[in-house]
Amino acid sequence: MTSWAFEVAVECHSLLGEGPCWDGRAGVLYWVDIVAGRVHRYEPDSGRDSSAQVGAPVGFVVPRASGGLVVGLGTGLAVLDGDAFDISSHARPAVAAQALMALETPAGTTRTNDGCCDAAGRLWVGTMALDERSPLGGLFRVDADLAAECVITGTTISNGHDWSPSRDRFYFVDSPTRRINVFDHDPATGTIENRRALATLDPGEIGADAVPDGLRVDADGCLWVALHGGWGLRRYSPDGELLARVELPVARVTCCCFGGEGLRDLYVTTRRDGLSDPELEAQPLAGSLLRLDPGVAGLPSHPFAG
Ligand code: BGC
Ligand code: CA
Repeated sequence: MTSWAFEVAVECHSLLGEGPCWDGRAGVLYWVDIVAGRVHRYEPDSGRDSSAQVGAPVGFVVPRASGGLVVGLGTGLAVLDGDAFDISSHARPAVAAQALMALETPAGTTRTNDGCCDAAGRLWVGTMALDERSPLGGLFRVDADLAAECVITGTTISNGHDWSPSRDRFYFVDSPTRRINVFDHDPATGTIENRRALATLDPGEIGADAVPDGLRVDADGCLWVALHGGWGLRRYSPDGELLARVELPVARVTCCCFGGEGLRDLYVTTRRDGLSDPELEAQPLAGSLLRLDPGVAGLPSHPFAG
């Protein structure tokens, strides 16, 4: 196993660090602490990380083309003012996130999870069962006019998704299946079809407790997949071949995103909640935001057109 050099971008105790999303216009990285209901804004130039408490579980954050941010809040989408981050303090009171729309997903037993936008500005939002066992989740595609369609049903934990560089493929993970799925994608309509397995991750290779979580595609079309419970990430070719293993000193690696100059940095979020005291002692960086040099450039994150 190759031990990768990494930097600690933000040393903190986020409970469930997730959803890194690079805003190329502002040169900042947004990310969330899902269970703490906190949205973070990290400025690499100054090293400053400020945050806003939104008062409910927040699955993801993406910039909005018209300004501000969209977050997955509980079972719906909400908008958050960019000014919410002006004061840097973890103790500040909740900021009102204004409801934008509800998703047709059961309240009380599901919540929004990973979300990101395609190059046309459509927002793709996964939902998951709170018990992490029931097939109550799905994947919604939300168009600029806020029309939402559930394009994948019956998932348990809808997680990482992204597109190939030419956008003719869509990759999608439902974590407990350990499978990375690939679909044909029509960039003009946002339609996906012909689901098949790109790779099914072997517990013997990634670890018995490990599942694939967030993912991002690089400029070469390869997939960087975070391993929740697997102490790192894996890089897979567009044919599903395992190309690289990234080992990190944190068990629950949740998601990654390309950012920085030329999209040459890989930001990695991690999780702290659910660890025992001895595990916490052995993983002081659990919850921190990490950054590594993947040796390849990434593809840009896109803002929501709605
Ligand atoms: C979810 C977690 C879940 C993890 C592993 C994350 O995206 O937010 O609740 O435990 O994936 O499947
Ligand atoms: Ca995730």
